[in-house]
Formats: sequence, structure tokens, C-alpha cells
Amino acid sequence: MKKTILLRDLNENEKYQIRDIVENYGTPLYIYFYDRIDDQIKILTSSIKKFSQILKIKIYFALLANQNPYILLEIMQNFEKYGLEPGVFCASRGHLYILSYLLDYIGSFENLSVTYSDVYLTEDNIDYLCSINASSFYIILQSLNHFKIIKQYLSKKSKNEIKGKINLGIRIKLNFDKKTGEDIYSIYHGKNARFGLTKDDLGIVLYEIEDLGIKEVGFSIYPGTNIQSLKKLESIYQEFFNFVEENIRNFSFKVSFLDIGGGFGINYRKREILNLESIFETIVKLFNRTFYKLTPKIENNIFLEPGRFIVAPAGILVSKVIDIKVEKDLKFVIVDAGLSHFARPYIYNQYHKIDFIHFKNNKKTKMWKNVFVVGCTAASGDFFSDNPLGKPTLQIEEVEIGDLILFYDVGAYGHCMSSNFCGLLTPPEILVKNGKHYLIREGEKFENLIYGVSPCLKLH
Ligand SMILES: Cc1ncc(COP(=O)(O)O)c(C=O)c1O
Repeated sequence: MKKTILLRDLNENEKYQIRDIVENYGTPLYIYFYDRIDDQIKILTSSIKKFSQILKIKIYFALLANQNPYILLEIMQNFEKYGLEPGVFCASRGHLYILSYLLDYIGSFENLSVTYSDVYLTEDNIDYLCSINASSFYIILQSLNHFKIIKQYLSKKSKNEIKGKINLGIRIKLNFDKKTGEDIYSIYHGKNARFGLTKDDLGIVLYEIEDLGIKEVGFSIYPGTNIQSLKKLESIYQEFFNFVEENIRNFSFKVSFLDIGGGFGINYRKREILNLESIFETIVKLFNRTFYKLTPKIENNIFLEPGRFIVAPAGILVSKVIDIKVEKDLKFVIVDAGLSHFARPYIYNQYHKIDFIHFKNNKKTKMWKNVFVVGCTAASGDFFSDNPLGKPTLQIEEVEIGDLILFYDVGAYGHCMSSNFCGLLTPPEILVKNGKHYLIREGEKFENLIYGVSPCLKLH
């Protein structure tokens, strides 16, 4: 089985569409191609179906990756199109608000379920969650305090009010000291990780769960972000399954689901993704091996919360060359996007593949060596090409001011991480679907920079 799958580059037709869109909306600009979302969900679905006799794999799209309600709508409808039940993973009250806003517009989806795991859990947030028009909710607790909060919440509600609605899960902290993802800190497991319950805290909670007569509980981890190695995923899953197996033996409740989070990586330089079939094959193998003695105590429900895998390849950031500086053997190509519009290269030192649309439409053949493509903010580390502290490794086709420079795979952790740093405005978002394009979020206006400020100034 192939270990990785290549993502396809833009074709001439898509580039032509981009020129057209830029004429209407200017740059910088996020464009999402619907058929690329469709491609990813197709891969997900066909891989899940291969193992559906053995495991029930349920997908919760992580709003963390892209929080445009319109993109969420497309993803949920696409799930339905391929026979998956719609599911959303929310990590904050804001995510719940976005989901709720969408449902107010379109009504609910059939069998919509929501996983909710918020570092800042409050009774008020749980109430808000339960007001959402969905069929089921899974609250994933991350600490002893969370358990206290949910207990208080449940004690105030009548059984009928919450019957069948709230399901509990517990995120656990693995003693796993290997670095697992692209995050330069990558502290998802081990001593310094702050997410999830330790073995000791878990013991306390499980005894209370037993005493309270709770019949079912799930367990959850997040393996790490942008993991590109099947081996790493395998070792984390194994650690997780072992942990659950060891800790539930003495209790009578059922394990209703195992939530193994997201983290399926993309090699942004090569534009490759891991083959999901091999990941699912691994999960099946580990599940059977670890839990074969414990069925039916453990249900074969596996939850996934992928964000990046589903949306990253759909997004292109379009920017314009605004200046070119030549210094001996170095060239700085300065674009009108910067870390305020797209922060990943700055935060994670992550290169995203670069492509071009030449202003005059006469494709240049001459190549430039030693090029730095840099952003338009005042931050010294605002580089889109790599190795800012050394010799540039990037070679590009010759460009001129006004040409378009495109950055691939920005559909996840792109627009949602944009900011007003340096007085810049967050860019518009466009969806291209069936040959047409739709403005799905306007670009910010300068008034936004002083949003909420002017009434206060009036006081003086
Ligand atoms: C708990 C949890 N689930 C899911 C995700 C989505 O992960 P990814 O986009 O890497 O698939 C994240 C991202 O940080 C997360 O923290």
C-alpha cells in the first residue's frame, strides 16, 4: 500500500479563475476550492468504509482549523453526500457560537453530533452547548476541576432535561516524551503537557463516576499537530489504548468511545498526505490486539477530529508582488501579504509551496536563484520562504511588481489565525464551487481597527 498521496497543483483553468477573482476583490485574498475539500472527504469516506465491519469511525471536523461557517456548511453537506453523519469538534464558546449561527440559518443536519473540549469549561458554556440544535453532545473533560463543574451542572438538571443528550469523555495525559508534531514546542504529552488528566487524577474521577452510577464514558487524546509519520501515530495510539485498557479493568461502566483526535499531517513542501487507509489499518490492528479480552465492555466507536487533513489543501493565499530588492546575489520579493494574514510560516517556520501568476501572462522562463519571499509587516522574521537566518534556498521564476504569488495549502490554520498586527486587515475569503465563485467573508475594513473604541473616546 502506498504510504503517501500527492496533492494536485493548480491547473491553468484554476489560475485563470484566480486572476478573475483578484480583479474583483484585490489581494491579499484566501480562495478555497470546493472540489479539493470534496477530494479529501472522498478519501476519508472510502478509507472508513473499508474498515466499517470492524470499527465504527466517526468524524468530527475540527473548527479550530477553519472557522468560516460557510466552509463548515460545505463540509457537513459533503459528509452527508458520502454517507457520513455530520460531526463537529468545538474547542471554545466561540466555536459553539459559529456552529449555532450556521444552524440558525439553515436548520439542523440530521444526526448532527458535537464534541466539545474547552480548556475554559463553565456551566454557562455547557448550557450554551445544550441549546444547540444537535442530536448528541460529547463533553470531553480535561481536568479534575472540569469534573467538578460537570457534576454541579448535572446535579442542577432533571434527568429528563439531559437524557441521552450529554455524553462524557475524559481527555488523558500520556506519559510520552517523544516530540510528536510540527509545533515547535509540541507539548501534547509528557511532564510539561497541560492537557488532560494524569493517571492519578483519572483514578479519582473514575471512582466517582462509578459511585455516581454513570453507565458510559469515553476517553480522548490528541496525538499532536501535523504528524507525518505513521510510526509516530502508531506508538501514540498504542500508548493510549494500553492506558485505557489498564485503567478501566476494575470498573463496571462501559467505554462508549475512544477519541483519537486529529493531527493527520501534510508535508507542505512536497505537498503529500499520509495514506489514511494505512492509518486506519493500524488502528484496527491495535484495537483488536489491545481490547480483544474486553469486548463488550469497550464499544468499537472510534472518534476522529481532523481539521488540517480536510481543509488545508483547499485553500490558496493570493498575494501580489509589491516590491523587489536586489542586493548582490540576493533577491527580496516583497508581497502584500504578511504574517498578519498568514502566520504559519512565522510561527512554525513552515514553508508553504509557492506558485505564480504573471501579470502580463507571458510565462517567464528565466529563473532567479537565492530568493527570499517576504511579507509586508515590520517584523523581521516575516518570511514566506525558508532559512531566514542563512542562505536562501528558494529558486523562482522571474517576477515583477504586480505579479501574483500564491501559497498552497492554507485552508487550515490560515485565515483563522490572521490578525490586525501592523494595522493590517484580515483578508476576504472566497469559495470556488462548480466554476463559480462566492464571497464567503468580506475583507475587514479600517473601521474594524477601532471597533469598540470610539464610544470610549467620547467619554473624554
Ligand atoms: C483536541 C484537538 N482536536 C483536534 C484538533 C485538530 O487537529 P488537526 O487540524 O491537526 O487535525 C486539534 C488541533 O489543535 C486539537 O487540539
